[in-house]
Amino acid sequence: MQLYNHKDINCLAKHIPQNSGVFVIIDKNVTEYFPNNRNFHLIPIDAKECNKSLEYIYGIYEALMEFGADRDCFIIGVGGGVTTDITGFLASTYKRGVRFGFVPTTLLAQIDAAIGGKNGVNFSGYKNMIGTINQPEWIYLTSAFLKSLDERVFREGIAEMLKTFMIFDKESYCQALALASVYKNNKPAGWQEKELKRLIALCGEMKMRLVAEDEKDRGKRRLLNLGHTFAHAIEAAVASGTTEVYSMLHGEAVSIGMVIAAKVAEKLSLCTEKFVKEFRNDLIMASLPVSCPASAAQLFSAIKADKKRSGESISLVLPKSIGRIIQKKIELKELQKVLKEIEL
Ligand SMILES: NC(=O)c1ccc[n+]([C@@H]2O[C@H](COP(=O)([O-])OP(=O)(O)OC[C@H]3O[C@@H](n4cnc5c(N)ncnc54)[C@H](O)[C@@H]3O)[C@@H](O)[C@H]2O)c1
Repeated sequence: MQLYNHKDINCLAKHIPQNSGVFVIIDKNVTEYFPNNRNFHLIPIDAKECNKSLEYIYGIYEALMEFGADRDCFIIGVGGGVTTDITGFLASTYKRGVRFGFVPTTLLAQIDAAIGGKNGVNFSGYKNMIGTINQPEWIYLTSAFLKSLDERVFREGIAEMLKTFMIFDKESYCQALALASVYKNNKPAGWQEKELKRLIALCGEMKMRLVAEDEKDRGKRRLLNLGHTFAHAIEAAVASGTTEVYSMLHGEAVSIGMVIAAKVAEKLSLCTEKFVKEFRNDLIMASLPVSCPASAAQLFSAIKADKKRSGESISLVLPKSIGRIIQKKIELKELQKVLKEIEL
């Protein structure tokens, strides 16, 4: 898998194989930024989280068949994490797998969703239940796309960036936090493209290194799930319409999920109350949400369906401090008790 860094989208053609049909699955919100100079077959999609589903992608399989896409075709996913997840899954299953690449257009997709080969769709109200682990041939990065991002979407990317740096490197964590605060205080002057590009590249490299060590997610790679068990449970509760919040972005759920992970770690005497307070304040400084819209009972009910559950226990990723993240198996009953005790 190759990571290409370019100033804009104009170098894309260099990375596309000649003599094969090229099909571009593209978020309809970014088509205006994607010059289709080589007359690729464009398949615009409505890249909403609720469309990350088997039902929605049936229509894309049909479009590929109607266009006559054969086993030698090349598929490109252009969009945020919803689009790269859909495209990766589709390309890995269409005709038992065809070649594919990604042009991620959100911060979150550039530093996380497009990297690592996990491609999946939601099923029966649960996140990423059906999927594959299969690497794209390349990921084409350009910060040009990020300028049109809605501020909320930009910030959810910061949440995943902080998560990755929190696992690996305190200094980069502080730099990402500084970038997020500048962005808040003065949006135009805060557009520090050079620093942002550097942090995007660093974050991607860190994730790629971990994936290379444990592609199938059986060991160390699971550290990247920091905050995610709780985030997925929050997303399931929000999607069910039973919380006071009706929409939540993935990175926002990750921000809240990381705070819950820190509070659980404190209850288990893995970290101090001071750490939890400071970490929570960091996320507030980055204008990220920290309060959980779901109840302990809602969280626990969704956690029981989590992929990381095995029998009556679940493996959690918990922080001791910035740069010291561990995996810990915990009995479901104990987790239920802890969730009831902490202030969500
Ligand atoms: N596969 C993985 O390893 C992995 C990791 C993290 C997250 N994810 C998944 O990624 C998804 C979230 O991704 P996301 O946050 O990128 O969301 P997204 O794809 O929903 O994009 C967010 C919004 O931004 C719009 N958008 C995209 N690019 C834009 C641009 N350049 N300018 C203006 N608007 C733009 C989209 O149309 C959408 O409305 C979730 O489904 C999550 O589960 C996957």
